[in-house]
Amino acid sequence: MSVMDEVKTLKKLAENSVNQRIADLFNNHESNKSRIDEFTLTAAGLTLDYSKQQLTPAIKSSLIKLANNANLSDKIAAMRCGEKINHTEKRAVLHTILRADDKEKRQVLAKSVADEVIDTERRMATIVDQVVTGQLTSASGERFTDVLAIGIGGSYYGIKVGLSALKPYQSTGINVHVIANIDAEALADKLSQLTATTTLVVVISKTFTTQETLLNANIVKQWMLAGYQSNLHNDVTAKQWFAISTNIETAMEFGLQLSHILPMWNWIGGRFSIWSAVGLPLALAIGNENYSRFKQGARELDLHFFDSDFSDNMPVLMALIGIWNRNFLNHASLAVLPYYHGLRAFPGYLQQTDMESNGKSVSISGEPVKWQTSPVIFGQEGTNGQHAFMQLIHQSKDVIPCDFIVALNSHIDDKKYLQHQKTLVANCFAQSEALMVGKNLEQVSAELNNKGISVDEIQQLANHKVMKGNVPTNTLVFNKLTPETLGALLALYEHKIFVQGTIWQLNSFDQWGVELGKALGTQVLDAFDGQVAQSLSQSSKFLINQFLASGNANK
Ligand code: F6P
Repeated sequence: MSVMDEVKTLKKLAENSVNQRIADLFNNHESNKSRIDEFTLTAAGLTLDYSKQQLTPAIKSSLIKLANNANLSDKIAAMRCGEKINHTEKRAVLHTILRADDKEKRQVLAKSVADEVIDTERRMATIVDQVVTGQLTSASGERFTDVLAIGIGGSYYGIKVGLSALKPYQSTGINVHVIANIDAEALADKLSQLTATTTLVVVISKTFTTQETLLNANIVKQWMLAGYQSNLHNDVTAKQWFAISTNIETAMEFGLQLSHILPMWNWIGGRFSIWSAVGLPLALAIGNENYSRFKQGARELDLHFFDSDFSDNMPVLMALIGIWNRNFLNHASLAVLPYYHGLRAFPGYLQQTDMESNGKSVSISGEPVKWQTSPVIFGQEGTNGQHAFMQLIHQSKDVIPCDFIVALNSHIDDKKYLQHQKTLVANCFAQSEALMVGKNLEQVSAELNNKGISVDEIQQLANHKVMKGNVPTNTLVFNKLTPETLGALLALYEHKIFVQGTIWQLNSFDQWGVELGKALGTQVLDAFDGQVAQSLSQSSKFLINQFLASGNANK
């Protein structure tokens, strides 16, 4: 059977499920197992409840056939063993090897590459030890109190999510800050919190050509040198600056010492790079041991992904459910809703990892694909989202599937906060229940009637209070957010993205779509300096004139 045959079957199943209420599926379960037994599973400390999806055992098995017909097993094996599956850039995709043990590294990578990877890991751990123990000091001989990581996109989001999620594990006493955006107010604000003589800078850029990162790094350099006498200036970049890049030459031209540049490799995509030396700022905050635990959690999830049958494979099932929702039930968005403050940066992280990977419409063979690809991903920590966009999810005409992510326990032991944790978790569970069951007109009318409201008023009000329900949701629960759990969570979504990209026949590992904006950005900058390209639209010329009239360009 081909992929398209299975697509036909799934289309039929989707037509048949149009009027199917998810809540009823719990009573009319087709299989011998209970719906909870069949539609929940645990791996690497994460439990996924997907019983509130609009899914039956028949649909699940058809989705698994789709994955089989798309040769998913072979594609997973190809990724794992380092085949060049990033066709447009002729690169392997091997972030998983960075979580593997040295033996597997040596099996998969060429000897010189394996040596370099293992050596880089050692160098990184040594840097962390030396900074934390005060063996490495600033140009003025002071201990480092702060680290400023400069990078954007994949050279930023992983660190950001790791820092906020693992705050309880920030045990080194070093304050790590991140700066990504090219915004004077953001950078000036950050620098106002730092002292030049006690700050270590880590510039992270796979290419070392990224406009934002280089501009920020230059200003930080000026700021840092201004904090020192000129006779110490050479020492400052030599001692207080590190870089992570594939482009070692350009990093050296910037003034960095070779011994302070840790390599990246072309076979690690930026948005999958937190497991490489890109993780240095995170390791400087949480220490080497916790950073290893973080990778260990990802490794556990990797092994689950590589070795489990698709019917019990969490990333595969999440990917297939996403495909069912996107391509067969035609739901165009996905809300990602962590009910855990530590994961507040996770929706932003996932927006990049998922949409930069699968927000595409050309197949690996270069043909336009005939199906929709990545949904629009958005989200916010709960319960804040409940007082914002959840209204739309409950009552608009669009159906927006949700991933709820919840920590059963917080890191706060103080009894006075018990009610907070109970209330937070209760809200999370209540949202998915409300989204599933909704409230129909009869129920609303009966409720209003019981309150003694007049028939006229009920008629006016009732429709406004109807909740459509039947919104499909996943709930991912874990005990406490440990380094292992965070590693597993990030790996889970990484593999989900890979599986979806494979079935959609995309190359999930390039990102040509960001290039045109970069090129036009240069054109607009030139226009600010008087060279206006005639090809620019009238609208953009109007906006350029607005900027010029503000007097900013000539300051
Ligand atoms: O946004 C495009 C992008 O190329 C991302 O894929 C990447 O993570 C980011 O820019 C930063 O790139 P670099 O690490 O080369 O500075």
